[in-house]
Amino acid sequence: MSKYKIAWLPGDGIGIEVLEAAKIVLDKVGFDAEYIHGDIGWEFWCNEGDALPERTIELLKNVDAAMFGAITSKPKKDAEAELNDSLRSTGLVYRSPIVRMRQLFDLYVCLRPCKAYPGNALNYKENIDLVVFRENTEDLYAGVEFAPVPAQLRDVLQQLSKPFGVFKDLMLDEYAITCKINTKKGSERIIREAFEFAKLNNRKKVTVVHKANVVRATDGMFLDIAKDVHKDYPGIEMDDANIDAMTMWLLKNPFNYDVLVAPNLFGDIISDLCAQMVGGLGFGCSGNIGKKLAVFEPTHGSAPKYFGQYKVNPIATILAAKMMLQWLGENELADKIENAVAAVIAEGNAKTYDMGGNTKTLEMAEAIASKI
Ligand code: NAI
Ligand code: MG
Repeated sequence: MSKYKIAWLPGDGIGIEVLEAAKIVLDKVGFDAEYIHGDIGWEFWCNEGDALPERTIELLKNVDAAMFGAITSKPKKDAEAELNDSLRSTGLVYRSPIVRMRQLFDLYVCLRPCKAYPGNALNYKENIDLVVFRENTEDLYAGVEFAPVPAQLRDVLQQLSKPFGVFKDLMLDEYAITCKINTKKGSERIIREAFEFAKLNNRKKVTVVHKANVVRATDGMFLDIAKDVHKDYPGIEMDDANIDAMTMWLLKNPFNYDVLVAPNLFGDIISDLCAQMVGGLGFGCSGNIGKKLAVFEPTHGSAPKYFGQYKVNPIATILAAKMMLQWLGENELADKIENAVAAVIAEGNAKTYDMGGNTKTLEMAEAIASKI
């Protein structure tokens, strides 16, 4: 029997290709696992009305961790049009399988390390080594949205909120509402994870990213909680910045930053910026981590225009596999993978199209495997 059970969720498009590449490297490093395929993605929405079928949810309840490629999603109208004939009139609503996975399994940490491997011509600057902690289950992604706005909600807002008055003469279908919902528990646990990570990994500083001067109720609370949590970590410096200023400062002085923590949407934004500084989507890896389950993935999508060509960069996914090994406590294997990735980048012989070369996806994986 294998030591670990891993759910294997390739999904759509290049998700399938990059997971195939990651498997080459996991096999070479000798990871002792049984991989169990799970259905996820567009095809299952079209044919079954659910991009994350119940059987996949059951599978995820019974594994140690999961590797996920990418999914395709489309705007509302297209999503409804592509539903199977027998389902089209049922009023089904498309829901992102990733957001659902995060919420169903309470994968509250989105961990995104962004490290510039020496020799990568795509590095914005050498030696960047940032780690983003993004809250992963609430905030503007809570899924509480209204378009058109129900009359009861308008009436309550009119009663309770003075600034709402500027909208009072609009028709209900002339505006839309998305709720930014942040909880004390959700804020505290992600901030604590960031500080714990800093402590365990000898990181010097945690920067809290927010918009507390304008979004006062939610982000103000997030910042206050950070100040409280910081008291438990006297050896670690804390600072904070507004999201807009932060994007500017990160570009100007990336070396002033170390660990970043943010509510969901700002974490999403800042992690794309950080990923771009270390090579872009071909290098951005991500862990969705809860107490019992963690799902690892590249941050990119299914890139339909490249699907079938086996030319995209698998390094993001190979680094996601490395993160999975770290989470499982297989640090020695994780280090071997990371060193092999670093060696291939430093050598500069194998380069996928985004790196300026023409190495194919699986050739890149083989080149990395050959360094193990
Ligand atoms: P995308 O991330 O799929 O691709 C954008 C562009 O980035 C590609 O055309 C390509 O030029 C580049 N790229 C992406 N991955 C790369 C790789 N591994 N190596 C080299 N270059 C790479 O984003 P796009 O085109 O906006 O979305 C395509 C589909 O993916 C959509 O249906 C979208 O909803 C979905 N999506 C899914 C995500 C996920 O599964 N986590 C995340 C983002 C988008
Ligand atoms: Mg994103």
